[in-house]
Amino acid sequence: MNNTDLVFQSYGRCCRKEAFFEDFYHHFMASSDDIRALFRDTDMAAQRHLLRHGVMQLILYARGMSDRKLRALGESHSRRRYNIRPEWYALWLDALVKTVRAHDPDYTPELGAAWREVLMPGINLIRDAY
Ligand code: HEM
Repeated sequence: MNNTDLVFQSYGRCCRKEAFFEDFYHHFMASSDDIRALFRDTDMAAQRHLLRHGVMQLILYARGMSDRKLRALGESHSRRRYNIRPEWYALWLDALVKTVRAHDPDYTPELGAAWREVLMPGINLIRDAY
């Protein structure tokens, strides 16, 4: 099985429980006061739902899907809208892998590395639209 398949299946094990997304935002917001402030007025239940799809878009992009949806995220996260600083994406990915480690019973360090490798091209596309 290749890395995109391994990550796709790992995500299937993780995203069954809403707690995965709750824990992700807990870790992500804990990583920086600036990031916590960005979500001060956000409806977090809706945001968790949006992220569920967002992570799937990153995985599907690695599997060859069109970049159209990620380009739209690149636009919304750019300096013209949410103004998400490029260096924050590393914190985002760290928080995600930390959450996968806690939620996927089949987690291994190799699987964590596969997550990083598979998500990186899509994350870079969003970040580089800054
Ligand atoms: C909104 C996904 C990284 C902050 C959203 C939305 C999605 C999403 C799907 C809702 C759709 C939209 O508004 O365009 C992602 C993905 C990321 C990522 C897949 C990883 C590459 C980040 C980072 C930050 C961030 C690194 C902050 C440091 C926000 C904020 C909103 C948002 C502030 C709007 C919240 C609101 O409506 O109040 N993101 N995001 N995102 N994201 Fe991200």
